Amino acid sequence: MFERLRTLHTAVKDRSIFDLFQRDVSRAEQFSIDTDNLRFDFSKTQIDEDILQELGAFCKARKLDVMRENLFSGALINETEGRAALHTALRNLDGDPVYCDGQDVMPEVLATLERMQAFAKSVRSGAITGPGGGFLDVVNIGIGGSDLGPAMAALALTPYQNGPRCHFVSNIDGAHITDTLHHLDPRRTLVIVASKSFTTVEAIMNAKAARDWVLAGGGDPAAQFVALSTAVDKTREFGIPSERVFGFSDWVGGRYSIWGPIGLSLMIGIGCEDFNAFLLGGQAMDRHFRTTAWSENMPVMLALTGLWHHQICGYPTRAVIPYEQRLSRLPAYLQQLEMESNGKSIAMDGSDLTEPSGPIVWGEPGTNAQHAFFQLIHQGTIVVPCEFLVGALGHEKDLKSHHQLLVANCLAQSEALMRGRSADETRILLQEPRLSAVDLERQVRHRVFEGNRPSTTLIYPKLTPYVLGQIIALYEHRVFVEGALLGLNSYDQWGVELGKTMATSLVPVVAGEIPATGKDGSTAGLVDYVLKHRDV
Ligand code: F6P
Repeated sequence: MFERLRTLHTAVKDRSIFDLFQRDVSRAEQFSIDTDNLRFDFSKTQIDEDILQELGAFCKARKLDVMRENLFSGALINETEGRAALHTALRNLDGDPVYCDGQDVMPEVLATLERMQAFAKSVRSGAITGPGGGFLDVVNIGIGGSDLGPAMAALALTPYQNGPRCHFVSNIDGAHITDTLHHLDPRRTLVIVASKSFTTVEAIMNAKAARDWVLAGGGDPAAQFVALSTAVDKTREFGIPSERVFGFSDWVGGRYSIWGPIGLSLMIGIGCEDFNAFLLGGQAMDRHFRTTAWSENMPVMLALTGLWHHQICGYPTRAVIPYEQRLSRLPAYLQQLEMESNGKSIAMDGSDLTEPSGPIVWGEPGTNAQHAFFQLIHQGTIVVPCEFLVGALGHEKDLKSHHQLLVANCLAQSEALMRGRSADETRILLQEPRLSAVDLERQVRHRVFEGNRPSTTLIYPKLTPYVLGQIIALYEHRVFVEGALLGLNSYDQWGVELGKTMATSLVPVVAGEIPATGKDGSTAGLVDYVLKHRDV
């Protein structure tokens, strides 16, 4: 399959994407997918009907429909951890039964959601307070999936934020918690300790620092701490009362966990109704993904476009460029979602992966990105497929022209990447009579854009909670499809373990308690440097 696709790529790689539009006026429509409100346009790529057919055949050969059903129906698809990956159950608001290990998980999911709602309402209304009065601030302490989702979504939904202010502390760098707590009231701050395992050193150490801060400021940890975890026993050991613990099951992967208890800070910030709308958006995307044919299926097409660009065309990275300042944490969120899920070299059956794993994902919001790294994207020697996201409308009613300029920039970038600018066009623009013919040609060369650089655009009406839910679920399913087609397990993350273990063993070395015996020269030298400087 991959070979056939590579042959197709060799045949088409030098043709002009822009010419494809000239030859086929319906191209944009044919190579776009619409749901009721979203449009994913992948027409500014080399994908054509033959390639689509081949990609569709690939899905069929890999039995993607069977794997998709396994995902939704609670099969143990995370084989290396012996678990299901049932995050879709967290947004299954109708409560239709979902079985895992023969048991319907929905009663517990809905009961936890109700408890979260009751708690969030009480915090927002002031029925639950700290010793200093109603909560002014919420600090979510967690890292990775226990941070990136709610932090990204809280920022994305700033216009809907009408509860206590939400803050997020993740890094073990003491600067993070210091700078966050610095201006908060230790008697009116709710601390949410979010950790699926409740053993992650960053979360636990920062939670202890927050507890010390609350105590030192005259607060009451029993009244001000909440835990979100699958390890309820460990939250108890930490001293968090059971009525303040929101548990979830191990079939919720960390990077897929924003829909359940890990989303509590977001729920408190935006309120239950908008959080519900977020869940409904996710559920709508689930339905679309589960029931729509491949050729009309948005997550599948997003995945196939990714597979085409990375595994077939060989482009090493993809840039996610939201033209939405409030989505500035989306690239970081997607880095974990995509790279922790599909950054593997071993296939599900234990053999070596024969194709490249998932790509490097990176990005920044436009228009900032344009003034930073777009030089390379337009004229560098590496092709970087760009995934643009943009809303037709912004939230700032008084700043409509800002938004028009934002949208124009987004569309202009994808057009410029595709069309480029030839030497002839550049020569006309560069009418500079003082230049000699030789100098003119030299200047022209620097100003030519070769074009033919692929991009896709996801366009949505406005970044509401519902739309954000759709977008996040869209990317989750994209990761699933890419992982399934590559034949790997998207739901484990063994690659993060080694560094953690080594860090633990290096702590006493860095503290100068034991020598750096057995360490390589570089590590020993760096330790030496730290020890020499520790009291400076
Ligand atoms: O180290 C990676 C990781 O396990 C992520 O997969 C996870 O989201 C993060 O750490 C935090 O884990 P926890 O929620 O258990 O603290």
